[in-house]
Amino acid sequence: MSQLTPNPSPRPLIDPFGRAISYLRVSVTDRCDLRCVYCMQENMVFLPREELLTFEELERLGRIFIRLGTRKLRITGGEPLVRRDVMRLIASLGQDLAPGRLEELTLTTNGSQLAKHAAGLAAAGVRRINVSLDTLDPERFRAVTRGGRLPQTLDGLQAARDAGLAVKINTVALRDVNEDEFDTLIAWCGTQGFDLCLIETMPLGETGEDRVEQYLPLSTVRPRLQRHWTLQRDDTPGLAGVAPGPARYWRIAETGQRIGFITPLTEHFCDSCNRVRLTCTGTLFLCLGQEDHADLRTPLRDGASDEEMEAIIRAAVARKPKAHDFIIDRDHPQTQIARHMSMTGG
Ligand code: 5AD
Ligand code: SF4
Repeated sequence: MSQLTPNPSPRPLIDPFGRAISYLRVSVTDRCDLRCVYCMQENMVFLPREELLTFEELERLGRIFIRLGTRKLRITGGEPLVRRDVMRLIASLGQDLAPGRLEELTLTTNGSQLAKHAAGLAAAGVRRINVSLDTLDPERFRAVTRGGRLPQTLDGLQAARDAGLAVKINTVALRDVNEDEFDTLIAWCGTQGFDLCLIETMPLGETGEDRVEQYLPLSTVRPRLQRHWTLQRDDTPGLAGVAPGPARYWRIAETGQRIGFITPLTEHFCDSCNRVRLTCTGTLFLCLGQEDHADLRTPLRDGASDEEMEAIIRAAVARKPKAHDFIIDRDHPQTQIARHMSMTGG
C-alpha cells in the first residue's frame, strides 16, 4: 500500500502562522541503551511492541509526508539504532533522495551503535548525523548516561568520520555537570571536523532528577565562550530552501567549525519552526512543547487511504501552535510536558 497515486503538486503544508512544514522528525522507538539524566528515569518502562508503528507503517507515513512537501526527514528515538529494522527503513526512505523527492535524510543517535551502522547509513544516502555527547570525560559520561561507555561512542564517531558522514555533536548544557567543558568540546570538535550544538534542558518527562538544578541558561554561556573564541553569526541553511529551524549558529574563527545554540528557554525561535514530529506510536505532535496531537495510527490500522491520511495530517497542521511555553524555575518545578523526549523524538 505504499504505492502512491501520482499527484504532481499537492498543496504544501502551511500552518496558520504561514510556516511551511517541510521537516518531519520520526521517532522509531522509545527505547535506548542509555539513561541520560535529563532524558529518562533510571527504570524506564518501555512500550510493548504492538504499540509501535511497524516498518511498513513508518515507511508508508514517511512517503505520505514526502508527498505533502517534507524535504527533510530525521530518524530519531529513543536511540533509533537499537531498533532492529531501522536500517531497512533508512535504506527504503533513502531511495527518495536520488530522484529529488526528498532533499535530506538524517539521524539523531547517541553513537553507541554507529561503529556497526555508519557505513550502511552513508550507503543509504545519509550525509549528516547528529550525535548526542555531553562530555568527553569517561567517568562523567558514565554518570550522565547512567552507565554508558564513552569509548563506544567515540568508536562510533570515528566510524562516522571514516564513512564520510558530517557530524554535529549535540550537547545538553547541564549546570555543574559539563559547563566547565564547553571550551574543551569546542576545541575537540575543531580537531574532529564536527559542528557542535549546545542545548538547554527542556522540561520533558519525569527523570527523577531536579531540572531546576540541571538547567543552565545558555544566554550566560555564549558571552563566556566569546572570551576565548571568535564567533561570527552563520545561519546559512543546511540545504536550499530548508530554514535553519529553532537554532542559531555561529562560525568559530579559530576552528572553522560551527557552534549552535538551541535555547528554547531563554530565547525561542518558534517563528521559524518548520517541523512536526511523529512518535513511534504514530502520534503526530505539532510542537515539542505542546500537548496538541493527532493520532495517525488508528486511521492507518483502520485502512485509511493515502488521501484520507493526507486530510488528517492537513487538519493537524492547521492547528499547529504558535510557540511552546516551557518554563524552568522554582515556581514551576514539575515537569510541564509528561512525555519524554524519547517518545516525541529529539
Ligand atoms: N532537554 C533537552 N535535550 C534533551 N535531549 C533529550 N532529552 C532532553 C531534554 N529534556 C537531547 C538529547 C539529544 C537530543 C535529541 O535531545 O541529548 O541530543
Ligand atoms: Fe538515550 Fe538520547 Fe535519551 Fe540519552 S538523551 S537516554 S541517549 S534517548
